[in-house]
Amino acid sequence: MTVLLTGGAGFIGSHTALVLLEAGHEVVIYDNLSNASRESIRRVERLTGLSIVFVEGDIRDTKTLADTFATHNIEAVIHFAGLKAVGESVSLPMAYYDNNVGGTVTLCQAMAAADVKTLVFSSSATVYAESRDMPLAESAPTGRPTNPYGTSKLMIEWLLTDLQRAEPDWSIALLRYFNPVGAHFSGQIGEDPAGAPNNLLPYITQVGVGRLPRLSVYGGDYPTRDGTGVRDYIHVMDLARGHLAALDALKARQGVQTWNLGTGHGYSVLEMIEAFERASGRPLPYDIVARRPGDVAECWANVEKAERELGWRASHGLDEIMRDAWRWQSDNPQGYRG
Ligand code: NAD
Ligand code: UD1
Repeated sequence: MTVLLTGGAGFIGSHTALVLLEAGHEVVIYDNLSNASRESIRRVERLTGLSIVFVEGDIRDTKTLADTFATHNIEAVIHFAGLKAVGESVSLPMAYYDNNVGGTVTLCQAMAAADVKTLVFSSSATVYAESRDMPLAESAPTGRPTNPYGTSKLMIEWLLTDLQRAEPDWSIALLRYFNPVGAHFSGQIGEDPAGAPNNLLPYITQVGVGRLPRLSVYGGDYPTRDGTGVRDYIHVMDLARGHLAALDALKARQGVQTWNLGTGHGYSVLEMIEAFERASGRPLPYDIVARRPGDVAECWANVEKAERELGWRASHGLDEIMRDAWRWQSDNPQGYRG
């Protein structure tokens, strides 16, 4: 089948493109390159020996979307495109609602016009209400996100649910990612944030290669086993396989399906630092500083629904995550610009 990947040149999209190609699908990547480069696509082509159709376009551009659907025989869309920097979203809320929410509306209208009604959407565990009851199942209540990025994800979940209610022939998957990290085992593709990373693992690996001096650990006084925040870090290749499984599962189901993509295990920041030191053989300089506003103490997934309904489960553990993240960062200290 031919699958359109919006935002497919980015971190998660490029790994998913590779997995889809290896499974025998055709891939069309639609990306405005606002947070990615063509180099990720070239590398996926080199790794697989297969070619990708690339369209440089914005999901808010109705005409380029219509041309893309008219030119390629697209049967399903995986929708990664969006802005994702939590802090930036607080200062630029309209940019986030325009790009993420407005872009999704335009994309869905173009899909409907082309009679393509299978959609997999990149949602986030950030939509869940703050809770002390871990792990989080899909049935846990959603909350009021603390930032416009999170709100945009919840608004998109709602608008897709309303769309499917009005037009029951749509099949939609809402994939709630926990903390995607790691890289393809080749070290050829990986996460390449613009500017200083906001997220823990790219920050750790950039300290590791000397691009940044020290890690700040946000909070040492959480009610967790060592006082630092606990998260469910999932290898990006496991996450990528989850998209393939979701596409397969949608063939047999109409409606809106929600699946957590996580591992079901939580690790603290200090455990992540230790795992990095094991994988790299280098000490990681850090300081424990004040909590980051908006952070929760703990967050990890109940993955039973995804295991049962998708026949999927994460298979890579923390040491593999660190090994692959470190291989990518040490082989490409400046990311795709290196
Ligand atoms: P990324 O920034 O690497 O990829 C997003 C891609 O979308 C980029 O290539 C960017 O150039 C493109 N893009 C942005 N706006 C666009 C537009 N208007 N039109 C066309 N292309 C556009 O991010 P990622 O980490 O790969 O995340 C992919 C998706 O998963 C995002 O929707 C993100 O919010 C979601 N998500 C990510 C995480 C995470 O930790 N990485 C967690 C939960 C959810
Ligand atoms: C963050 C976002 C979330 C988004 C997700 C994926 C916030 C509040 N949440 O989740 O909305 O969906 O990224 O993009 O930004 N940490 C440090 N030092 C650092 C960076 C992080 O100690 O320099 C800690 C954090 O406090 C947290 C853990 O590491 O305990 C993971 O942080 P991060 O990678 O930013 O992910 P989340 O906060 O879970």
